[in-house]
Parts: sequence; structure tokens; C-alpha cells
Amino acid sequence: MSDKPSRFEKLASPVRIGPLELRNRIAMAGMGVEVCEDGGFVGDRMISYYEERARGGAGLVITEVGAVAYPKGATTAHQIGLSRDEYLPGLARLAAAVHRHGAKVAAQLVHHGKVARLDTQQGREILMPSEPTFHGALDLTHDMSREEVGLLMKAFGGGAPKVRVASLEDIAWLVDQFAAAAARLERAGFDGVELHAAHGYILSEFLSPAWNQRDDEYGGSPEKRARLLQEVLRACRERTGDEFAVWCRIDAEEFRTPGGITLEDAKLTARLAQEAGADAIHVSAYADSTSGGAFTEAPLVHKPAGYVENARAIKQCVDVPVIAVGRIEPERGEALLREGGADLIAMARKMLADPEIARKICEDRLEDVRPCVYCYTCVEQPFFDRTVRCAVNPVVANEWKLARVEAGRSPERQRVVVVGGGPAGLEAARVAAARGHDVTLFEKSDRLGGTLRFASLVYEPNERLLRWLVAQVEKADVDVRLGSEATPEQIGAMAPDVLLLALGARRETPQLPGVERDHVFDGDDLRALLSGEGDVRAGGKLSLVGRVAVRAGRALGVTADPAKLREASRAWMPVGGQVCIVGGGLVGCELAEFLAARGRRVTVLEEGPTLAAEMALPRRWRVLEDLRREGVSLVAGARVREIGERSVFYRLHDDPDDADDHQVAAETVLLATGLAANDRLAAAFEGLAGRVERIGDCSGVGYIEGAIHEGFHAAARI
Ligand SMILES: Cc1cc2nc3c(=O)[nH]c(=O)nc-3n(C[C@H](O)[C@H](O)[C@H](O)COP(=O)(O)O)c2cc1C
Repeated sequence: MSDKPSRFEKLASPVRIGPLELRNRIAMAGMGVEVCEDGGFVGDRMISYYEERARGGAGLVITEVGAVAYPKGATTAHQIGLSRDEYLPGLARLAAAVHRHGAKVAAQLVHHGKVARLDTQQGREILMPSEPTFHGALDLTHDMSREEVGLLMKAFGGGAPKVRVASLEDIAWLVDQFAAAAARLERAGFDGVELHAAHGYILSEFLSPAWNQRDDEYGGSPEKRARLLQEVLRACRERTGDEFAVWCRIDAEEFRTPGGITLEDAKLTARLAQEAGADAIHVSAYADSTSGGAFTEAPLVHKPAGYVENARAIKQCVDVPVIAVGRIEPERGEALLREGGADLIAMARKMLADPEIARKICEDRLEDVRPCVYCYTCVEQPFFDRTVRCAVNPVVANEWKLARVEAGRSPERQRVVVVGGGPAGLEAARVAAARGHDVTLFEKSDRLGGTLRFASLVYEPNERLLRWLVAQVEKADVDVRLGSEATPEQIGAMAPDVLLLALGARRETPQLPGVERDHVFDGDDLRALLSGEGDVRAGGKLSLVGRVAVRAGRALGVTADPAKLREASRAWMPVGGQVCIVGGGLVGCELAEFLAARGRRVTVLEEGPTLAAEMALPRRWRVLEDLRREGVSLVAGARVREIGERSVFYRLHDDPDDADDHQVAAETVLLATGLAANDRLAAAFEGLAGRVERIGDCSGVGYIEGAIHEGFHAAARI
């Protein structure tokens, strides 16, 4: 143990929530992940998912939204049911599994109100405080593919929901359902409940002036709107013992919602909740759910530490502990706790990416935390009524069969050769070494990372993954051979037991008139220019100044460091003021973001009907909304016909009447198309080991998620 004081003393220190003594201040925030058995039953799959987070050191595990009146008021058949005693055995096993590892466990209680998709699917009315009068942006489907719209319609039950305005009997029933669920959870051995009074579900609909138009004792003034929450809190208190904690999660603000909840409303709600017996206040936020871009404003905030000021403001008006949430990095969380701005930090996406994050923070081992890259793959799945996935952690939702892969030594030590040090190769080498194999990794360039280096340049969170992968491989017992292009002869002579080919993608230059012009750069050119890797074939296309600048960047090591390069590129880049990007997939759109942020006027031409189709939806909405706001021109269904001296000519091929050329001015043209598996190279290595596998982009372009998952699974099989 080092004598250095931990940077995370406060996060690692114990804290109380009402009667509960927690071992640290790191909570797993509730996440609906659809790992429940059909019918709302907790099974082994769900138990092992939560158990891993408790084993990983979380002080408090808050389970996903549990439906107090299941199936009524539920959003999916695969969420926890809390409405009947038949659920008790599964819940009791879950509580015991979390307790085994020293964490406390609370269930999140919900009635989904207007978003109770299961009610619509099963032909029931949805319960709301009043007839909805609010009309949001309704742009949710704009950037979705046809298949995605179909999936969404299916998840929402196909038809338009029928609204039932809650009568006083309905309200009394609701209060009883919440309280009965709390009592049931206490019997199952849970330590507490978190009432979900946020995110547009029924309790928050009552709290929201935008959704609650009642003129009885449950609507009108903020106090009346908070009456239902207070009644539920009191009823839960009455039906549970003194050792059981009861608190609520509220929205500090409702963004993009005319007349929605304000911070002032939320402060009052927090005080009223405390008065009604809440042991803590969990501060989240919500945004108009009919608008795609809003989703990454709240509740899955994209802005780092997006709501910490709200938590701080609410902390000032209550005496009970305040839980802060919303993309809070450990350093920021520690600072907030030290400043007295909150008492606990809840984490959601980070807990998916690394279930051991709490222990690693408490041990001050931040470099070992597998980072979330904020790609939103996780949340896209439940959106479509599918089980959660994590791009960087293939074990998520499969803990019951994969959690011990890295800890488990293979019975026989095998000689494993990995060719290619991109994300797939690094992940495979890391996991194979952890399983006790003798691993050699060949990388032809002088640094590890492959395409992930380039991806890090345009999207900062990717750089954290790059650093983590490289650090883990360096720590592991892997023989890394940099600057070493593995040849089939060399591999043949090594005669490994297993050969994993992680050769990446190849980029095909499209056959377009004008593609050879000096102002046209393809993916390889760009990567070479910006990241300083490979052969600067494109150097010949640069001015003398450009060549000198690129050489200087390399000599100073700027091109080796994505962060430095991101900064340096703000001052200079070999890219003109007007840029046309041909190809509006993930790569083209991320590139557009990068260039627009550096003052370029950008047009993106995408041949297909959907832009950024490979991005998980919430991120796609976010990126496309940001691009449009930045003035980037996004054109889908555009077939490029020719690249001219200063212009690109294209036709809108979805429009039969559009026989004319459109023209976009471009000083620089960037080709972001033509990515394909590197099968030609891979073929030369076939048959050189007992087992040969292709992983990552060389087996089919799958970006970060494909690379990490294939790398992991290939190594897990050895
Ligand atoms: C896959 C997923 C599912 C979520 N489901 C819930 C939920 O069931 N209840 C809830 O209150 N919040 C839910 N959230 C929001 C999180 O609890 C959290 O507030 C949000 O992700 C911001 O925290 P983070 O930046 O640490 O991820 C979910 C988030 C994710 C990523």
C-alpha cells in the first residue's frame, strides 16, 4: 500500500441515509436494463448483474424501476414486478446477493404514467393527472431508420395510447400500490426504496405544472402538486419499519418543456418531501421526451456534471442527504462532496462499463477503471424493448455466464499470437493474458491503438478507452512488438496454438470522377496526416507550409497524443475553410463535428436515407442536432457524381424528379466511405495455427463495440 493520501477519501467514506449505514458514498443509479424474466420475476440473470456491482464495491445499489402495480403502469414485460407476493422469492435472493458483498440495496418504485408502454401494448388506458395539453417537438422519429421506427412503434404498443385521467379512487389506489410494494420489499430483505418522482412518470407528472392541469387538491399550487408524492412517502413510512429507508428521486428541472418544473419548484418539492419523511433526495432532471435531442440533455445528460449545480442548490434547502447524478467523473464527485454540494454520488453508465468502479475509486486506481465512452448503446436497447448492451463491457447482462472470464485461468496455457494492436487486438490480448495464456501482440506502427487513435481525435471519450486498453495491456504479461509487421512466414515459424487476426478495415477509394484531385483526401490520407501514422501519401497533396507543419507536429510528438492534437488542430489543420464530407455515417458525422468545432463550413453528403446510422440513437440525435445548430449542412440520399475543382456535384437519388445536379462548394473534400473488412490481408494468414480467428473490423466493420466484443469473446474461448 502506498502512503500517498487517496484522492477520493470523501467518496470512500461512510455515510448514512436515514437508518442505513453505507460503506461509501458511491451509489449505483437505477437503470432499466430488461434483464428480468418475463412477467416481472427476478431471476439468476438479474441477480448476477446486480451482484457484480455490489462485489465491485458500490456502497448502495439502487435497482431499476420496479413497477408497483405490475403489469399496470409498467413500461415493459421485462421490468421488476412488485405488485404480488409471488415476486418475493426472487427479490429476496437479489437482496441477499447484494448483501453478501457488503452493499445496501434499495428498489426504485415506479408507475410509468404516460409512458407505461405495457398498458398500451395490452390494451389498457394509461393513467395521467389530467388530459395532456402539452405538445412537444415530436421530432423523435426524424433521424431514425424505417426499421427503428417500426421497433419503436412495436415497443409503444402500435396504436395511440388512451388516457385515463386519475380519479380520487385511482389516486388512493396508487398510494396503496406504492406502500404495499415498499412493505413487500422490506419483507424481501431490501434496505429501502427510492420513489421515482422524476423522468415524466406518474409522480413527476403530478409534480409538473406542464402535465398536471388539475384543479382539485392534487393540482394548482406547487404544494398541491406535491401532495401525491407526500402521501406516497407517508404511506410507505407507515407500512415499513424504522430500519427501512424511504426517499425519492426528483427532477430539478424539466428542460424544453414550456411551463415545466423549475429549480424553484424542485427546491420546494425537496422540502415537502423531507417534511413527509424522505430520508434523502436524489436530484435528477427530465426533458421533453418527444424530442430526440432532449434525451441527452436529461435524464442521460451528455454535458459532464450536467446537474451538479442543481444538487448543490437543493442541498442548501434540506437537511437530509442529497444524492447527485449525471455524468459525474470521480474527481468532480469528490470535489462536490468536499464542498458540501452533495452527500452521495450516483453513477449509472459508468457502472455498466465497469462494475468494479466503486472499489477502484476507493483504492485510488482510476487508471484501471474501464471508461464509459458515452456512446449510448446501453440505453438504445431498452428504448426498443431489448436487453441492455454496453459497447465497452461485453459482460453486461451476461454476468451469470461471463463475469468470471477474466478471473478464470484456462486449464492449459496456450501460445496466442494477436496480429494488430487496435481495439480488438488489445482487448483480445488483455483478456487472453488475464486467462493465463502466453500472448504475443504484433503492431506494425510504432504505437498501440489502431483506428481508436483516430476515433479519439474526433471524440474525446474514446481517448479514455484507448488509454485504458493500452495501460491494461502494458500491465499484463503480453509480449508487445511495436513497429513489427507480422508476416505469414514469421507466424508460421512461431506455430502458435491460436492466431487472432485484428487487422482492421481497409478503405476503398470510391471510383468518382475527380477523386484524384489534390484537395481530395481519403480516410488513410487523413489518418496519416492527423495522427502521424502510416505513410503520408497525402503529403504530396500538401503545400510546403502544410508539409512543414505536419513534420513539425510529428517531431514534437503532437501527432502521437490525441489530446494535444485536438488542441493543435484548433490552430491549424491541412483542411480548407469549406469542406465537403462524402459519406455521412458514424465516421463522416464525427468528422463533421470535429471540423465544425474548428470553424470549418461543412457539408455532409450521405447516399443512404439515414445519417449516422451506426450511432446508437440518443447519440445520433445529439450529434445531428448539434451539427445542424453549428450550421453544418446534412444531406441524406445524395449520390455524388463528380468532384470538381472547387465543387462537389451530386443528385438526390430518392427523388425521381431530381435529375439536376446540385452543387456544393468545397476547398477540401474528405472521403468517409468505403470501409470494408480487411479480408485480403487476413487470407494470407489462414491455416497458420491450430485455430485462426478474425476479430474486429477485419471480420466485418463493427466499430468500437464490434472490436471490443469480438476481442473479448475470442479470448474468452481460449
Ligand atoms: C440503460 C439505462 C437505463 C436507465 N434506466 C433508469 C431507470 O430505470 N430509472 C431511473 O431513474 N433512471 C434511469 N436511467 C438514468 C440513470 O439513472 C442516470 O440518472 C443517468 O444515466 C445519468 O447518470 P450517468 O451519467 O451516471 O449515467 C437509466 C440510464 C441508463 C443508461
